[in-house]
Amino acid sequence: MHDFTPSPTQDKAALHAELAQAAQALVAGESDAVANMANVAALIWQYLPDLNWAGFYRLIGGELVLGPFIGKPACIRIPLGQGVCGTAAAAAQTRLVPDVHAFPGHIACDAASRSELVVPVLRDGAVIAVIDLDSPLPARFDAADAAGIEALASRIAAAI
Ligand code: SME
Repeated sequence: MHDFTPSPTQDKAALHAELAQAAQALVAGESDAVANMANVAALIWQYLPDLNWAGFYRLIGGELVLGPFIGKPACIRIPLGQGVCGTAAAAAQTRLVPDVHAFPGHIACDAASRSELVVPVLRDGAVIAVIDLDSPLPARFDAADAAGIEALASRIAAAI
């Protein structure tokens, strides 16, 4: 059992620091990428409130392919440059979308999603995956969430 319990009454930056540290500990010593992505998705789900989807898309053969996640069944393949995930992967940059309905080309996998955060995972300077978080709340994610998930991504990049 892995008992990672978020400390109570933390500010967001502290919560993310704890989440990133827990993620690194969770994948330490395990070489199976699927197992590590599955556990990290579950950990994000446990730590961050107000999510309806949390998981990975992997960059395989020039397109994003669905990886381990928590949430409703989702689109399996996303071409680079399409949707929030595909544009984040193509640019190798985080995409913070306060209102998905206002994002041209947003791909709706769950009609409940209102805001979204997509963070690329880079290994040796190249995008290997993205972490995608959806929320049913508008503007759920802010710069602290983006920085926090970017830190998490760099800590687990070697293990997925
Ligand atoms: N909304 C994403 C697609 C993935 S689902 O949200 C899980 C996008 O526009 O890329």
